[in-house]
Amino acid sequence: MKSPALFSTLLLALFLSLFAACSDDSSSSPTSEATPASKSRGKTLVAYFSRTGNTKPLAEYAAEYLGATLFEITAKIPYTDEDIAYYTDCRADREQKDESARPEIATAVENMDEYDTVIIAHPIWHGIAPRIISTFLESYDFSGKTLLTFCTSASSPLGQSAKQLQELTPNSTWLESKRFAIGTSREEIEKWLDDVL
Ligand SMILES: Cc1cc2nc3c(=O)[nH]c(=O)nc-3n(C[C@H](O)[C@H](O)[C@H](O)COP(=O)(O)O)c2cc1C
Repeated sequence: MKSPALFSTLLLALFLSLFAACSDDSSSSPTSEATPASKSRGKTLVAYFSRTGNTKPLAEYAAEYLGATLFEITAKIPYTDEDIAYYTDCRADREQKDESARPEIATAVENMDEYDTVIIAHPIWHGIAPRIISTFLESYDFSGKTLLTFCTSASSPLGQSAKQLQELTPNSTWLESKRFAIGTSREEIEKWLDDVL
C-alpha cells in the first residue's frame, strides 16, 4: 500500500457501497395501492335508515362506489305503516316533535373504532332526520372521525337536518351534507362523492 490515505479511501468506498446495498431494501418503500381518495378518507362505513326504501339504493350506490361497508339502521320496534302515516299524530309524528326521543336500534356496528369516515343516509321526516339517526350518533364515539350525511325527501330541502345532527358530535369533522330527490341515479351519487370527499 503506497499510503495510508489511499487505504482509508478504499475502506471508505467499500463501507459506502455496503451501506447503499443495505438501504436499497424495496420492502421499506410504500406498497399501498390505495387511490388518493381512499387514502384521505380511510376505512369507510355507509350507515342508512330507509323505512320505505327510497334512501336504500342511494346508500348502496355510495357503498359500492367507495368499497365501503354497508350497515342498515333498523328500529328495535319496527315502524309499521301506521307508525309513519304522517300528520295523523302517528309514532313518527310524535317522535319528530320530541327533541329527546331516541328510538332504540336493533343491531350495532361491529368495530366502529376501525372506521375513519362514516356516511349516514336517511329520509327527511318533518324537515329533519328521523330521531333514530340521533340514537345512532349517540351510540358511538365519533371523535376524530369524518362524518357526512345525505338524505332523501319528497320535496323538502336539507334545511336544518344536518346542523341538528352535527350538534350531537362536536368532536368530529363534518363534510357538507346533501339532499337528493327520490330516484337519484347512481352516476349522480358517484359524482357527488367525488366532489365532497
Ligand atoms: C313521518 C314522515 C315524515 C316526512 N316528512 C317529510 C318532510 O317534512 N318533507 C318531505 O319532503 N318529505 C317528507 N317525508 C317523505 C320522505 O322524506 C321521503 O319519502 C323519503 O324519500 C323516504 O325515505 P325512505 O323511503 O328511505 O324511508 C316524510 C315521510 C314520513 C314517513
